[in-house]
Amino acid sequence: MTVMNFEINQARLNREIDTLASLSADPAPAVTRIVFSEQDLQARAWLKERCREAGLGIREDAVGNTFLRWTGARPDLPAVGTGSHIDAIPHAGKYDGVIGVLGGLEAIRALQASGFQPGRSIELLLFTSEEPTRFGIGCFGSRLLSGALDPGADEKLREAPAGEEAQGRTLAQIRKNAGFSGSLESVRLPKNYYSAFVELHIEQGPILEREGISLGLVTDIAAPASLRLEIEGEGGHAGGRLMPGRRDALCAAAEVILAVERAALATGVVDTVGTVGICQVHPGAINSIPSRVYLTVDLRDTDAARRDRVLAEIRASCEQIAQQRRVGVKLEMINADAPAQSSPEVLAALKSACEAENISYRTMVSRAYHDSLFMARIAPVAMLFIPCREGVSHRPDEYSSPQQINDGVRVLTRTLARLSSV
Ligand code: GLV
Ligand code: MN
Ligand code: MN
Repeated sequence: MTVMNFEINQARLNREIDTLASLSADPAPAVTRIVFSEQDLQARAWLKERCREAGLGIREDAVGNTFLRWTGARPDLPAVGTGSHIDAIPHAGKYDGVIGVLGGLEAIRALQASGFQPGRSIELLLFTSEEPTRFGIGCFGSRLLSGALDPGADEKLREAPAGEEAQGRTLAQIRKNAGFSGSLESVRLPKNYYSAFVELHIEQGPILEREGISLGLVTDIAAPASLRLEIEGEGGHAGGRLMPGRRDALCAAAEVILAVERAALATGVVDTVGTVGICQVHPGAINSIPSRVYLTVDLRDTDAARRDRVLAEIRASCEQIAQQRRVGVKLEMINADAPAQSSPEVLAALKSACEAENISYRTMVSRAYHDSLFMARIAPVAMLFIPCREGVSHRPDEYSSPQQINDGVRVLTRTLARLSSV
C-alpha cells in the first residue's frame, strides 16, 4: 500500500511526552528515570494502559522488554517492529528514547484510525535499560534479545555505580522485586521474529539542524566500548603527610583521564570519541589523600579496528602511569561491541516514505548507540533520526520541536504501513 491518508494526533503526542517527562526522580526540566525505579515502573504501567486502549496485545519478557502487538491478517509471518527505550540517565531530557516509543504508538494509532489493515503484525517494542546507569552496561534488554549477553549476568551484574559501591543487589534480585521473573535465556528472540525493525530517535548530534535537513536515515551505528578502572594508591593525612613520595590515586586518575582524551584526539578523526564519565574517590574527604579511585571510560568509533587501537593506547598509558606513580591500575572491559549496518531494504522503505511525505532527508552515521545495534544481529534494521536543538542530548535542555517530531512520526507511519503490507 503506497498511497494513504492518515493523521498524526500531534497534540496527544505532545501531551504524552510531557506526561512521561513528569515521571522523573528529579524535578523538571530534568528527567531521571532509572530502570526498575518507582518512576520507571509507573511509566511502564502508564504506557501499557495507553497500549491497552489502542487494542494492542501485551507481552513482557523476563527482564521487562515489552512487546505491544497489533495483530495483522497474517500473524504467521514475522512481524514488523518499531520502538526504543524510556529509561533516562540522571538529569536527562524528555526526548531520548521516548520519541521512538510514543512516536511508534502514535504511528500505530494513526494507521488504525485511517482504516489500514496490516498484513504482518506491527509490534511496538519497549526495550529495558538501554542506558547503562543501573547495571553498568548499555542496551541491556536488546543484548539479551539478540543473544549477545551471557545469561550469567543475572548473578554477576550488580547495581552500578560499580567499583567499591558495586556491593549492591544483583540483577536477579532487582528484576524480581520489579515483578520480572523467568530465566535470562528465555529472553532471546529467534532470528526470524521480525521481518524488519525501525527505530525512531533524536539525532543527539548537530548535523541535521546545521544542514537544515528534516530527517536522518542511519546507515551505520558506531562501535561502542566501555571499561572500568580501579586505581589503588596510598591514603593518609592531608596535612601530616609530606608531598614527596605520595602515591595519590586521584593524581594518577587525572593523568589517566587526560590520556584517554589524548588517545581519542590522536586519531585525527571526528568519529573517535572517548569520555570518562564517572570518577569516584575514596575516602572522599577534604583532608584525606585519595587512596582509591574508580573511573569509567566510554570509547566509540565508526571503525572498530581504530577503536581497538585507541583502547590499546589507553592500556599502555595506564601501565606507564602505574609505574611512574607507583599505584595499582586494574582495568576491566565491560563491553566492546561490533558496529552495525542498516538493511538496504529497510532504508529503501524509509527513503520512499520520505519522498511520499515530501520531507528532506540524508543518510548518516549514528555515533550514539541504540538498541538497534543489537537488533541488527537478528533482524533487518534501520533508524530514523529527527533533529534536536544544537545536537544537545543527555541534558535537561534536550529539545525537538513538535514539527520535527511530526515529520519523523509521519515517515515512520508510512514506513510501517509499507513494511507490514504483504
Ligand atoms: C546512549 O544513550 C548512548 O550513550 O549512546
Ligand atoms: Mn541516551
Ligand atoms: Mn536513546
